[in-house]
Amino acid sequence: MSKVTWKGGALVAPVPPAMVTCGEGEQANIITIAWTGIINTHPPKTYISVRPSRHSYGLIKESGEFVINLTSAKLVRSADFCGIHTGRKVNKFETCGLHTEPASEVKCPLLAESPMSLECRVTDVIELGSHHMFLADIVAVDVDESLLDSEGKLHLDRGGLAAFAHGEYFELGKKIGTFGFSVRKKKKK
Ligand SMILES: Cc1cc2nc3c(=O)[nH]c(=O)nc-3n(C[C@H](O)[C@H](O)[C@H](O)COP(=O)(O)O)c2cc1C
Repeated sequence: MSKVTWKGGALVAPVPPAMVTCGEGEQANIITIAWTGIINTHPPKTYISVRPSRHSYGLIKESGEFVINLTSAKLVRSADFCGIHTGRKVNKFETCGLHTEPASEVKCPLLAESPMSLECRVTDVIELGSHHMFLADIVAVDVDESLLDSEGKLHLDRGGLAAFAHGEYFELGKKIGTFGFSVRKKKKK
């Protein structure tokens, strides 16, 4: 490949167009967040980077809690809407026809329509520049039963998850490998 060099930019892709719920009761809101990921396995830790101007920023700062709801392809239109409109003016649950469910460890709600929700408690806020990063412990994970087989094994591929890359949404497609497949011995016939 022949590459041209640009100045540094926020171009890691794909990233999840996560639907983050925050706030409590009537205040509950959804913000779409692409700047998120896992930063530690044990204990399980994540982050979301949020511009302080967002309505959700104040809700998360005040409560120290949020939920990362994974976005399925079916939810992408709503995710886009929740990433354009502010909860200061719109009840995004009502407008998108979405529903809340109580979480088990945090006070803000889960997004009922999401296949998997990660309940998070903030441990640190790091002011990076345009965005402030909420570092958080993942204190519970809520999995839709349709993603589990009879032995309780998770099949996340059944979730029809969406990805976001440079302003465009995609649905995850064909499986092309599994963890460690490059070094796994082939079964003898
Ligand atoms: C796909 C997508 C990803 C986004 N990622 C982020 C993000 O990582 N951080 C952020 O602060 N805003 C992000 N936004 C913008 C917010 O979701 C948007 O400003 C939203 O309207 C804020 O809602 P609120 O004011 O109700 O909090 C994203 C928007 C979209 C559509």
